[in-house]
Amino acid sequence: MLGAHVITDPEVAAPHATDWTGRFTGDPPAVLRPGNVDEVAAVVDIARHHHVALVAQGGNTGLVGGATPVDGEVVVDLRRLDAITDVDPIGGQLTAGAGASIAAVQAAAGAAGWAYGVDLAARDTATVGGSVATDAGGLRFVRHGSTRRQLLGVEAVLGNGSVIRHLPLVAKDNTGYDLAALLCGSEGTLGLITAARLLLVATPGPIATALVGFATTTDAVVAASALRRALPGLEAVELMLAAGIELVRQTTGLAAPLAGDAPVVLLVEASAADAPEALLADAVGGLTGVLDAAVAVDGPRRAQLWRYREDHTTAINGLGPPHKFDVTLPAGELAAFIDSVPALVAAEAPAAHTWLFGHAADGNIHVNVTGLPAADERVADLVLSRVAALGGSISAEHGIGRAKRRWLHLAQAPADLAAMRAVKAALDPAGICNPAVLLSLPPPSRPT
Ligand code: MLT
Ligand code: ZN
Repeated sequence: MLGAHVITDPEVAAPHATDWTGRFTGDPPAVLRPGNVDEVAAVVDIARHHHVALVAQGGNTGLVGGATPVDGEVVVDLRRLDAITDVDPIGGQLTAGAGASIAAVQAAAGAAGWAYGVDLAARDTATVGGSVATDAGGLRFVRHGSTRRQLLGVEAVLGNGSVIRHLPLVAKDNTGYDLAALLCGSEGTLGLITAARLLLVATPGPIATALVGFATTTDAVVAASALRRALPGLEAVELMLAAGIELVRQTTGLAAPLAGDAPVVLLVEASAADAPEALLADAVGGLTGVLDAAVAVDGPRRAQLWRYREDHTTAINGLGPPHKFDVTLPAGELAAFIDSVPALVAAEAPAAHTWLFGHAADGNIHVNVTGLPAADERVADLVLSRVAALGGSISAEHGIGRAKRRWLHLAQAPADLAAMRAVKAALDPAGICNPAVLLSLPPPSRPT
């Protein structure tokens, strides 16, 4: 039935075999490119009967090996399911196929007089299916929350072969179990999401963007909290360190963003019906520890300020496959954690380098470690254990995937894990849906 959309030539399949970081790679026996939900259901049916493991893939912008066929899974590329339909300009909703990019959803929302509440640096490539499967957070979490908050319903082919289709035309709907919320963040382990019904948000008014340099991490983290209270139209608060900005500058040729040498920089964005730059400047003026600031209102200049932040991922990937730890800390622990991580890593792996950036207002810091062999998990154990001991989460928005599966016990109690396994067994009894991620392995034995 799929004909030309079955790829078995390893060269053609190669872009599907390795993740964005380059750390996870595999050798898929085939890549299937179904064009509609019935074809996805047919693929799942065959896989169930022949016990073939499947991994769903969209834009392949995942960062934890959650969509990579490392163990010889068959890849199901869902990008042909990219239709955006049933746009409701009055209710502010639309239905997007799993293969629609985040940018396409944003454009469709804009054309209907609305906006989509999720934004990511990988917006042109990342797809709706992947963002639902990982409950992607991104750059606007402080304003609109993660993907789960935008999700009204899903269509999906479950591992047991059934097709669930709940794409409600209404926003208020509490009819029983919220299967969409269950599939959101399930990382492809329960079924293959084929479409999502998304709630849109109001288009922000005029926007101002600022880069603000701080003397210390504590000043920047305290500022993120103060800005949340001072600016009702706060759209984003992103954190960078001087070393990361320097790396981005080396790879892009961008000029220095601020006059001085601030060790910590926040990118702050706020909207207001009138003069957002004045409101933003006023709020920044009330902060402690500010060394320097640059404010922009016109589109090209704002886009340039965003590049210092958005280009971090590719700049770090350029140094060789990073180990990525996407973690959240309680607000009171964040600054000390950020300041302590480089030394923690260096004590275990002196040749490694730690890069830190993230979503300051969400307590979410991305710890990236380069210069480590792909399979070396010593640093993961240290960093994730420290996060758990501080009351944080080992996965804020990238998912558990393969990278953090050995540490899931740090995040979920035995009864919670048992409930998750029971759900998995009920919805994917043959264990064909992304079996190697999330719930797969027992915890590693810790050295005594
Ligand atoms: C980001 O915040 O830019 C994304 O989560 C990607 C990354 O962490 O590299
Ligand atoms: Zn992020």
